[in-house]
Amino acid sequence: MRAVGILGTGAYVPEKVLTNADLEKMVDTSDEWIVSRTGIRERRIAAPEEASSDLAVKAAEKALEAAGISAADIDLIIVATVTPDMAFPATACLVQDRLKAEKAATFDLSAACTGFMYGVATASQFIATGVYKYALVIGVECLSRITDWTDRNTCVLFGDGAGAAVLGPVEEGYGFLSFELGGDGSGGELLKLEAGGSRQPASVETVQQKLHTISMAGREVFKFAVRVLGNATDEALVKAGLSKEDIDLLVPHQANIRIIDSAIKRFGLTEDKVVINLDRYGNMSSASIPVALDEAVKEGRVKKGDTLVLCGFGGGLTWGATVLKW
Ligand code: ACO
Repeated sequence: MRAVGILGTGAYVPEKVLTNADLEKMVDTSDEWIVSRTGIRERRIAAPEEASSDLAVKAAEKALEAAGISAADIDLIIVATVTPDMAFPATACLVQDRLKAEKAATFDLSAACTGFMYGVATASQFIATGVYKYALVIGVECLSRITDWTDRNTCVLFGDGAGAAVLGPVEEGYGFLSFELGGDGSGGELLKLEAGGSRQPASVETVQQKLHTISMAGREVFKFAVRVLGNATDEALVKAGLSKEDIDLLVPHQANIRIIDSAIKRFGLTEDKVVINLDRYGNMSSASIPVALDEAVKEGRVKKGDTLVLCGFGGGLTWGATVLKW
């Protein structure tokens, strides 16, 4: 098995900013409530003509440039998303076409906010075994398209964006040291978008009942998130033969500052060791972790030899963590 790491990252967020003040005009909420309960101050919203593949291509181009790899050399494209352009073809196919990554195998992956973690874990297996050399993993969401903008319980939380990483072989001892992935389908009811699939195909009734938007049992998801964020990180560290003292940078899923604070406390981290950008972007589901990672890289917060932990949780229910020597 050869060592696999991240060769380059990229991100793209739409230009339009939706602030908490804007939301105050749309639903019965306040900037004070949103900031104190979630840490979110603003989020990005895709333009009407933008879809997930458009955001994904922009993030992917930056990741390829950062990695110094041509699209023609990419063997595999995985797009993690719960907001594909359409049910099929896969958004990964649309991205492949736009990038002209002609030899790449392509598929989408559905693991909600844990999508990027499942994506890098999957792609790295192909590279570790020598089946493929370079893979592009993209986390992208246009959550604004599946948000009920009259529901204050959910509409204040989400945003749109895309993050990408090029994976490839790295020097022995570097790259991904461990993965911890999990799922608990018994909690699927807690966070879902019900209609539009084979169980409840789209109809006038499903639209009227708003079954094409996110429904979430916030309090239950919150408790689940606090538990699995810590546990998955612990498991990934143990598998890598490391402990919490070894963490140089934690890149957690950006859902709620109080969930991240619980991890900071559990692992005894100082703020400089945690990437937080949810104040500017809200929860971008599968895009949150790669966008946060890209920002940390661009800000010079990641140095060669650093030990990074990426960890996420979300609908499914799902969770995942990886330890990565940069
Ligand atoms: N503005 C004002 N009041 C609000 C708002 C709002 N935007 N939203 C809810 N409230 C009210 C509720 O109605 C409730 O009022 P009530 O007590 O009269 O019924 C009160 O505030 C408190 O509600 P709680 O649910 O207890 O609030 P909580 O502190 O739990 O925060 C939140 C809610 C932010 C949703 C939190 O539970 C959370 O972050 N949950 C986790 C969400 C998450 O991490 N999702 C991740 C996955 S997302 C994915 O996979 C796509």
